[in-house]
Amino acid sequence: ELILSLMSRAEHYLKTIVLPNKVNNTLNGQVIMNLFFEPSTRTQASFDIAAYRLGAKVLNPRIQDLSLLKGESLVDTLKNFEAMGVALFVIRHSENHKPEFLSSELNNNTRIINAGDGINQHPSQCLTDLMTLTQVKKSFSNLSIAIIGDIKHSRVAHSLIDGLTIMNTPDIRLIAPEQLLPAYTLPNNVSNFSSLAEGLKNVDAIVCLRIQKERIDSSEVPDFDLFYKEFGLNSQAVKYAKKDAIIMHPGPINRGIEIESAVAVSTQSMILTQSHNSVAMRMAI
Ligand code: CP
Repeated sequence: ELILSLMSRAEHYLKTIVLPNKVNNTLNGQVIMNLFFEPSTRTQASFDIAAYRLGAKVLNPRIQDLSLLKGESLVDTLKNFEAMGVALFVIRHSENHKPEFLSSELNNNTRIINAGDGINQHPSQCLTDLMTLTQVKKSFSNLSIAIIGDIKHSRVAHSLIDGLTIMNTPDIRLIAPEQLLPAYTLPNNVSNFSSLAEGLKNVDAIVCLRIQKERIDSSEVPDFDLFYKEFGLNSQAVKYAKKDAIIMHPGPINRGIEIESAVAVSTQSMILTQSHNSVAMRMAI
């Protein structure tokens, strides 16, 4: 119900504020802080734009300029910002569960949004992707969705598997070399495949993921040429899916490694729609 309500609110914001280029006063007087301990193009900018469109003041301090470098803990840093009136933090961190931990250390009425924690979860990306899927496919209850690539180290994949499962998606297919498949037990609606031909057969949507080389032991990093040959999403592979299948990628895309350039810009590609929708979804969140 919460996911449906966020998608409905995001669609409302898309039509009434984002598309007509408006700003409303929902968060007037509020101060929001983005704290990104890892690089970001899409998530940070879209949370920033979302907050601007809701009338909030947004701070984006550079991590290297904070007094963390003088020995202050992150909890103490946040408590000081909280004391100055920051009521909402958007946090990306390389440690799993860091936003959850920080939330437990702050006042009950201070909000923390997880903008991606380690290899754990990226909930706002998942919600954006569910919104994008709904715009084209209407219902989750009869969908087959393939996720290709480095699923094991992808917080996007972990959130998407959870989100699609909550929405009763019956058929989620994970396509990856053995070392990039998740090590944990998967729900019954999720199955593993080691070939694009089998995994993509008649799917309604394909989600492509990059290899998260910054988080992988070097022994697990596949040979990029071999990976592209076996698991790269090219025009030929897309033909295994349904004719009206959509192609998604949370970004950043690596053309020629996990996705062919022509596929990324094809009429089936929703990659820029995902970025477009992300502002409205992050406003809703
Ligand atoms: N999808 C995503 O999280 O992209 P960024 O790393 O650019 O924010």
